[in-house]
Amino acid sequence: MLQGKFVVLGVTGSIAAYKAAELVRLLKKAGAEVHVVMTSSAREFVTPLTFQVLSGNPVVTDMFEKPVRWEVEHVSLADRADLFLIAPATANIIAKMAAGIADDMLTSSVLATRAKVLVVPAMNVNMYLNPITQENLSYLKEKGFYVMEPDEGPLACGYSGKGRFPEPEKILKFIEKLVGVSRDLNNKKILITAGPTREPIDPVRFISNRSSGKMGYALAEAAVERGGEVILISGPTSLQPPPGLYKYIRINTALEMREKVLEYYGWCDVVIKAAAVSDFRPKNYVEHKIKKGDSASMFLELEKNPDILRELGERKQKQFLVGFAAETDEIEENAVEKLRKKNLDLIVVNDVTAEGAGFDVDTNIVKIYYKNGSAEEIPKMTKKELAHVILDRVVNLLKN
Ligand code: PMT
Repeated sequence: MLQGKFVVLGVTGSIAAYKAAELVRLLKKAGAEVHVVMTSSAREFVTPLTFQVLSGNPVVTDMFEKPVRWEVEHVSLADRADLFLIAPATANIIAKMAAGIADDMLTSSVLATRAKVLVVPAMNVNMYLNPITQENLSYLKEKGFYVMEPDEGPLACGYSGKGRFPEPEKILKFIEKLVGVSRDLNNKKILITAGPTREPIDPVRFISNRSSGKMGYALAEAAVERGGEVILISGPTSLQPPPGLYKYIRINTALEMREKVLEYYGWCDVVIKAAAVSDFRPKNYVEHKIKKGDSASMFLELEKNPDILRELGERKQKQFLVGFAAETDEIEENAVEKLRKKNLDLIVVNDVTAEGAGFDVDTNIVKIYYKNGSAEEIPKMTKKELAHVILDRVVNLLKN
């Protein structure tokens, strides 16, 4: 998977530094050319010689040491990298990267690189959960860094909790996914909607649905990995936005979603509407909490929300439109009807009553219907895998 890839591995001062040696061995075995940069604290834990022998390349430790070749070393490594990996990453290096500090070889190289940067934190659980470290990590993600969550379990410091360096095999799998994906959405502007909408009844109640946002977020993450410029418009979910988004917009109601989608519609090449938009909203919002009263029933009058996707279909110019359909019965008829009525290029249909499909699960089982009348069954797979399948189809159709 990593044949011919140039990987720069930054090792920092954590007891897990010794595990990075195994990571170098695995990266080499997978075909990567590995160059290691060590901070001075890392050298207190493991000697550069270990990494030199395993990588087969000189280890860079000092900004001012005599260069091996006549190049500015930190710029040359930064330029040649297909992937820049910092593993293990201490709270200190994370804070320095978030602040843009460049006071040693590793931080200078990270600042100079345009490659994907993957940070693998390893530290004491309290340091990891400290809001400052968490904010620094969120900021790095916002800026397009990839962060692999540490494992939970007993830590070298005697504590137990989140902060363990993941097993090198697990890190390698993460890397293979990150590097292996093709950049076929480069320069494409993609708008994705995700999650439910909430239609308020009174200050404490709303109408909504079971969408978790997982499908839409998986699509956004996959589109970013493939080089797309991605705007994610999301209803309320507990998910973290994927790193590298062009814009992340949170909305609550269908009307708010409509406003934001229309604002960016002229900008997009592709729109993917994975959100589960409420078809109706309460006609009259009540300013105070509605009291139970003595009556055995209550009447709530609803009015129709605009069909955002249908509006996009009517105003369509250059945009490629992908709809989703959550169905429970007469699946094919409903899907084909939506594809036609909403002027879509394709529609992804999930039978939300099937196990492992639809709302709030990590997998999905779908059938894709195309404008030309053809259809394709996609077997059960994770939402992230499905996201790539859908994007494969979009990329192919955009070529024609
Ligand atoms: O979020 P998850 O938990 O991962 O669940 C994923 C999902 C089941 C929500 C997703 O796979 C899905 O099916 N999303 C579409 C759900 C839906 O609203 O289906 P629909 O058949 O009601 O709508 C058809 C299409 O029109 C959808 O693309 C929808 O975004 C759009 N729509 C619907 C109503 C409306 N007022 N405006 C719209 O734009």
